[in-house]
Amino acid sequence: MRKPFIAGNWKMFKTVKEAKAFAAEFKKLYTPSDVKVAIAAPFTQLESLVKAFKGTGIKVAAQNMHFEDEGAFTGEVSAPMLKELGVELCIIGHSERRQYFKETDASVNKKLKKALEYGIMPILCVGESLKTREAKKQNEFVEKQITADFKGLSKEDALKVTVAYEPIWAIGTGKTATPKEAQAMCAHIRKVLKKLYGEEISEEIVIQYGGSVKPANAEELLNQEDIDGALVGGASLKAQDFIEIVHF
Ligand code: PGA
Repeated sequence: MRKPFIAGNWKMFKTVKEAKAFAAEFKKLYTPSDVKVAIAAPFTQLESLVKAFKGTGIKVAAQNMHFEDEGAFTGEVSAPMLKELGVELCIIGHSERRQYFKETDASVNKKLKKALEYGIMPILCVGESLKTREAKKQNEFVEKQITADFKGLSKEDALKVTVAYEPIWAIGTGKTATPKEAQAMCAHIRKVLKKLYGEEISEEIVIQYGGSVKPANAEELLNQEDIDGALVGGASLKAQDFIEIVHF
């Protein structure tokens, strides 16, 4: 049985002070349930969020990490550094990282392996551009991403990965994929995972949808058969909006 999983992605928003205020408000509103909840924050807020959410079940995620343990990589942060802070998850391969920071499926694959080595659960982002969708090549494109990103991962490790389907044209644009479009792609992703790992594993892997998810559309998206959760950008910045999605 797949557990619903809602994760917030704050991107490059909030100072430590603002993050602490969010945590205090969110904890008051939050009722624990079988929905798994995480917030992916910038590096500087991670330590205070881990402290603030201690004992609540709310998990803290990073938004990126390097694929080496340590080294001369100015400006980068490694998996053991995150682990030491009590960070449990990490977004890997977000389309903004792929677009602005030149991440490739090869580096995403290395990052997945490094995160798993340290027991950090990856949220792997995949998704096509508007151009690819208009050319009706989205299924082929996402299949290629999944296959390359999971390359060399054992069944046991594959189970620990959450896949977030985020069509690039729906991120931060207010343009959501329709529940039908989102469901169709999430079902396709599960089919690709079945090809790679067999039915049993593919049925257990949690797949999120992301791209302009908000309180008004969360329930319908989350009621789709192959959509097990959501990766929420803009609407995770306000405790009131995010809680409505978490309590969908
Ligand atoms: P959005 O972002 O909800 O603001 O569209 C989603 C994401 O990029 O994870």
